[in-house]
Amino acid sequence: VSRVRIPHLQQMKEAGKKWAMLTAYDMYTAAIFEEAGIPVLLIGDSASNNVLGNDSSLPITVDELLPLVRAVSTSTRRPLIIADLPFGSYQASPEQCFHTAVRFMKEGGAHAVKLEGGIGMVPQAEMLARSGIPVMAHIGFTPQAEHQLGGYRVQGRGDNARTLIEAAKAFEAAGAFALLIEMVPGEIAAEITRSVSIPTVGIGAGNQCDAQVLVWQDMAGLRSGKLPRFVKQYADMRTLLLNAAKEYASEVETSIFPGPEHTF
Ligand code: KIV
Ligand code: NA
Repeated sequence: VSRVRIPHLQQMKEAGKKWAMLTAYDMYTAAIFEEAGIPVLLIGDSASNNVLGNDSSLPITVDELLPLVRAVSTSTRRPLIIADLPFGSYQASPEQCFHTAVRFMKEGGAHAVKLEGGIGMVPQAEMLARSGIPVMAHIGFTPQAEHQLGGYRVQGRGDNARTLIEAAKAFEAAGAFALLIEMVPGEIAAEITRSVSIPTVGIGAGNQCDAQVLVWQDMAGLRSGKLPRFVKQYADMRTLLLNAAKEYASEVETSIFPGPEHTF
């Protein structure tokens, strides 16, 4: 198996070939997504509210996310592994950003990192690109800035579309290898996708982006409760696991499990 690398993503954009990205945080799911042919896995800071039990991505630290990145990178051979830079680990300066990114590559085995931001984070992206660290810039709705943005809201409407397109171009000029566009009207994401030569990955950004991403627990229906509009559930893993756990408990309670075949 040969590793998916950044030029492959660039070639797919040029060939008009779309691709799917998923989050992954552990060895079994990472191996399954690799087997499914998913070319790019993101160890998102969404681990904060999808693995660690927090209610947003803000609390997760570098030390908490790093072992998950290592789990995914050591259990896969083909996908490109992107690590998210957690809130507070890169915004202060390009130097801080560089040191955090290096930890994800050295200790986590990541091949690239992702940072959130508008134009203010362009110096950070530039520092990474200059250092040979592939960087994906996450624009539009950026969950780490939730409190500044006033909650989960669609970005890039009206006059803000210009600002977003300018940020996209600035990140491309800074050397970002791709853009992630979250919760932006489809037509604006389409315009960004046409305006830059690097691939765009959409989430809640319509189907004109070069690629798409979903949090795997959302995609597989593990999560309960109200889902964002942009999520499509491709399985009902919550019900599957719930029923398995119930049946297991019931068989233990009624002495059906373990049976003779499970007994030494
Ligand atoms: O952390 C994450 O999972 C993400 C994607 C949803 C884009 O940033
Ligand atoms: Na994220």
